[in-house]
Amino acid sequence: MSLKAPLSNAYFAGLQAALSKAGLCEPVLLIDKTRLNQNIDTLKSFLPRGMAYRIVAKSLPSEQLLLHVAKRARTNRLMSFNAAMVAQLLARMPTYDQLLGKPVPVAALANMLSSLKPNQKRALSQVQWLVDTPQRARQYGELASAQKLTFRLNLEIDVGLHRGGMAPGETLQTALAEISQTPHLSLSGLMGYEPHLTKLPKIAGWPSRAKSAAQKTYASALAQSAEAMGARHVKSMVRNMAGSPTFRLYKDTELANELAAGSTLVKPSDFDTPLLKPFVPAAFIATPALKVENGVRVPGGEQAGDLLEAISPGTSVFTHGGYWMASAVYPKGLAPSPLMGRSSNQELLVGPASIGRGKLAVDEFVFLRPHQSEAVFLQFPKLAIFEKGRIVDIWDPLPISA
Ligand SMILES: Cc1ncc(COP(=O)(O)O)c(C=O)c1O
Repeated sequence: MSLKAPLSNAYFAGLQAALSKAGLCEPVLLIDKTRLNQNIDTLKSFLPRGMAYRIVAKSLPSEQLLLHVAKRARTNRLMSFNAAMVAQLLARMPTYDQLLGKPVPVAALANMLSSLKPNQKRALSQVQWLVDTPQRARQYGELASAQKLTFRLNLEIDVGLHRGGMAPGETLQTALAEISQTPHLSLSGLMGYEPHLTKLPKIAGWPSRAKSAAQKTYASALAQSAEAMGARHVKSMVRNMAGSPTFRLYKDTELANELAAGSTLVKPSDFDTPLLKPFVPAAFIATPALKVENGVRVPGGEQAGDLLEAISPGTSVFTHGGYWMASAVYPKGLAPSPLMGRSSNQELLVGPASIGRGKLAVDEFVFLRPHQSEAVFLQFPKLAIFEKGRIVDIWDPLPISA
């Protein structure tokens, strides 16, 4: 089977057979390992020479999944997103380098420190804390001094996304001064996240001007950091940019020396973009159809006269759970019904009449494709790993953390 081929009925029949052979009979998140591996290799093949790859942990939130990706992609770099996730990854993957993808309140960092075992505290030198303002740099410096620790700070640069962060100039200067004057702080790098670049309307060269502006802003933040910290330091520090939507825009390591991406390795549908076309969907929700009924009935309709009593054509499928950020992909044509509204308990999906005429039996699986991975994966107690026609493993999602 060519993995570029659209997801066929035969493909889902194969998943169905594998799940029931493995005795799985409740909602599960399924990862197709062959497709995942293909995506990892595709991503690696697009990285410019010398470019490091950082795995976005929130988008692939499972220890075994992260370990698998890290091994195949040959990287030890993770991006974590909150203090609890830092602690989880320090405990599970203590030799990995972690860069925070968002700043966390100093109080959350202090709480986390008090929960760490001594060896995990030592591994904190593997963590780069993202700092978006000089004030936060000062707060982190005070905590580091009080705890007799050294924190590595990575500064968030606003390269046009306008999700906070610092622009080059006075504010960045103050943050750099704060770091160089505080013995318990060091500058580990700069982050310039720019997912907007592939989402701007193609009007009057807007995307290409935004891309040049992002590069210019990042370059001037690097130059300013070199002035403050020395050119050698800046050349060797972590220069992080990109995410799944934009990592293919980089052709050399002139500005960024590492790119972050996660979602595209399982390719939820929000990532169906032209640049990510070479990637294939690799994660699906599989959930049993608890009830399969011919026709579609309005709740209480029989009390409302002839018109509503009539059963409209089609098939009603009530799934085990529902209301996920996901769309049904097999059997084809199933969608939530406005008649019943959404339900996390038993969701009504309505589809063509053929589904009820033998295409889907009660307790067989309906497959949905997640819109995004980060929140959806954490809603399932098990990740079922599918490879060569079988469920070969069960992986665990990371414990939930905001
Ligand atoms: C700072 C940062 N870098 C990179 C990413 C990219 O993650 P993904 O590749 O899963 O879109 C994100 C996603 O939110 C992010 O916040």
